[in-house]
Amino acid sequence: MAVSKEFIGDEPVAIKPYRTYGAGRSQITIFHGDSLELMPTLNANSVDVVVTSPPYNIGINYTVHRDNLPRPDYMEWMSHFGSIVSDVLRKDGSFFLNVGGTPEDPWLPWDVARAVSGELSLQNVIHWVKSISVDDVASDGSSTVLSAGHFKPISSRRFLNDCHEYIFHFTHDGRIPIDKLAVGVPYKDKSNIGRWKSVSSDLRDRGNLWFIPYETIRSKQQRPHPATFPVRLPEMCILLHGVREGMAVVDPFMGIGSTALACARLGVSFTGYDIDSSYLEESCSRLENYFSGRESKPEQM
Ligand SMILES: C[S@@+](CC[C@H](N)C(=O)[O-])C[C@H]1O[C@@H](n2cnc3c(N)ncnc32)[C@H](O)[C@@H]1O
Repeated sequence: MAVSKEFIGDEPVAIKPYRTYGAGRSQITIFHGDSLELMPTLNANSVDVVVTSPPYNIGINYTVHRDNLPRPDYMEWMSHFGSIVSDVLRKDGSFFLNVGGTPEDPWLPWDVARAVSGELSLQNVIHWVKSISVDDVASDGSSTVLSAGHFKPISSRRFLNDCHEYIFHFTHDGRIPIDKLAVGVPYKDKSNIGRWKSVSSDLRDRGNLWFIPYETIRSKQQRPHPATFPVRLPEMCILLHGVREGMAVVDPFMGIGSTALACARLGVSFTGYDIDSSYLEESCSRLENYFSGRESKPEQM
């Protein structure tokens, strides 16, 4: 279990968390402050999974963080962040980094991934698909277009609508076994079961395109944070890494606590940080709603 501590001389002293929740096997610990200062106080080689979405430096209107650093400064900040993650991540741990681009700046996610990577290996690249349209062809040859997910129109004559973001999966050596079937999907053609020696159940690898829609927000009042991911996203990352007894998950940029909620649902322990106490307050009320049974059912795939 990751323990947060600071030092007076050589003596470790506990840092006071902003809030803690203990429910069964899931210990949730939330810190208010700069994660790049606080995370190094975690024990080295102690964290099973880091799953997070950092600020993308694209001018998002956060209340505390200023999202418009000069590009080299931002990349240096991300690089420093990556080295801190690398230190605290267990040798068999996983680091899932969600980053999106903009139509004008499509290299941004890859630049961030490069800056963060340091000594880490890029083991998988997952695409978080927010909206998708597929041509569904019936047996009589007729076709229908099926569209699903959150669609935010852009009025551009140059750019297609950007319907996805990246989830970069880093590990120390690029060879960490993952639990693919924990996020598996049933076979469409059931004759696959039994045809292949390796297939014993009606579940196959989902692949690296993950369709995870947002819950639709209809008014600004319903949006307590300008850049969240759905709870299902960190939940799938943790499941893919593999859930084990006593595991520790960290989100260094926790916002309104989507990763904390995923951990509560999965019964695993969580440590999170944010510099903005208003977002942390929202995290706490989401967690309290969840623990008191007032939170609605998890979003389904
Ligand atoms: C993209 S948002 C994360 C949203 C989160 N995934 C969610 O679903 O709510 C990035 C967050 O990083 C926080 N942040 C920015 N700089 C930080 C820092 N140095 N330490 C901790 N949090 C920071 C911002 O306040 C913001 O809430």
